[in-house]
Amino acid sequence: MDFKDYIRVVPDFPQPGISFKDITTLLKNGEVYRKAIEELKTMVSDLKIDVIAGPEARGFVVGAPLAYALGVGFTPIRKSGKLPYETIEVGYDLEYGKDRLAMHTDAIEKGQNVLIADDLLATGGTISTSVNLIRQLGGNVVGAAFMIELADLNGRSKLDGIDVFTLMKYE
Ligand code: PRP
Repeated sequence: MDFKDYIRVVPDFPQPGISFKDITTLLKNGEVYRKAIEELKTMVSDLKIDVIAGPEARGFVVGAPLAYALGVGFTPIRKSGKLPYETIEVGYDLEYGKDRLAMHTDAIEKGQNVLIADDLLATGGTISTSVNLIRQLGGNVVGAAFMIELADLNGRSKLDGIDVFTLMKYE
């Protein structure tokens, strides 16, 4: 199956020059969504994973079903101000804009193996910030899984030494 057939490419969103890869057209097809998660599950099957961490918001729709399929826990990485308990936070630059990401201080047990999951790897800012948060909490990042990689933005270069798994690549 070519998952790209189910991605809608929207020109000039959210600003001129950005070609937005819309996954909602894949997600609404139950069979294709399920196959995408199953394929990511196969890609990470050699890893020892204790918990999956997914960044808000689209990381939830990849990370949570993958965690369910693998039978491991899921922990959210959220934008600043959303988590109710004690947090740690790190600021970062997005492909377009700036933000801060947060995790609960007890989201990860020291020494746990963590797989990060998100819909898309662009500049790698979100994922490298997620790696930073997880390592501050004592977690061991064993890999990062995405539906889509925007290869030209070279987000992989920010993930030195971390195995990256992707279903689709766009140049
Ligand atoms: C998007 C996307 C990734 C991130 C990729 O999320 O879902 O998380 O940007 O970009 P990067 O590799 O350059 O960091 P966004 O921050 O737009 O949040 P959303 O999922 O809540 O829309």
